[in-house]
Amino acid sequence: MNKLFLTGTLAALLAFTSCYKQQESKVTSFDDVLTSRRSVRSYDASKKISEAEVRELLTATQEAPSWANQQPTKYYVAISEEKLAAVQNLVGANKERIADAPVLIVSTFERGKSGFFQGNQTNEVGDGWGAYDNGLSNCYLIMKARAMGFDTLIMGMRDADGLRALFSIPENETIMAVISLGYRAEEPNRPDRRPLDDIVRFF
Ligand SMILES: Cc1cc2nc3c(=O)[nH]c(=O)nc-3n(C[C@H](O)[C@H](O)[C@H](O)COP(=O)(O)O)c2cc1C
Repeated sequence: MNKLFLTGTLAALLAFTSCYKQQESKVTSFDDVLTSRRSVRSYDASKKISEAEVRELLTATQEAPSWANQQPTKYYVAISEEKLAAVQNLVGANKERIADAPVLIVSTFERGKSGFFQGNQTNEVGDGWGAYDNGLSNCYLIMKARAMGFDTLIMGMRDADGLRALFSIPENETIMAVISLGYRAEEPNRPDRRPLDDIVRFF
């Protein structure tokens, strides 16, 4: 009886500890996600991210809206040592910043989908709508990452030709950002924002 009681108490304690730990690493409110997300340029090499976690993250991006639900965004995920090392050499001056990130994600969009109807460009923005949808999808990615306790850096400085060759990315896809994923090694600064009235006009 005593043994049973002890086992039960121990199990409850373990469950509580693991639940507490999980909460600790998760950001709890939407505003926390917004304000604690920062571009992180130094990652904790001891903390890994599993393929299952990356799948959960990318599943969230599928909730993003897109032009006529065209879903033009595609992701190429470097998670093996070999591919990570190769991508590190294709991000120019960003290399040192993401050297310890356990996952690097290349984001592309298929041209001729968003902004088109029956093969014809719908308005002056054209494939710009594909880039728009890609940015929306990436936004879901970085927000969901933060909600899962991860950190990211979007990199526009990257070698598109090298990435295309590395992942056999088809020519009809425009390569946009490389996004690093990992855990922050230090607290990032929050760069200043412009005053709201510089960017908004009410009429
Ligand atoms: C499209 C895009 C490209 C970016 N490219 C780089 C990059 O190549 N290297 C880098 O260190 N930061 C890059 N950044 C991060 C920005 O510098 C950063 O978002 C900005 O300074 C605001 O800081 P915050 O993200 O911490 O709020 C990029 C951000 C975006 C949205």
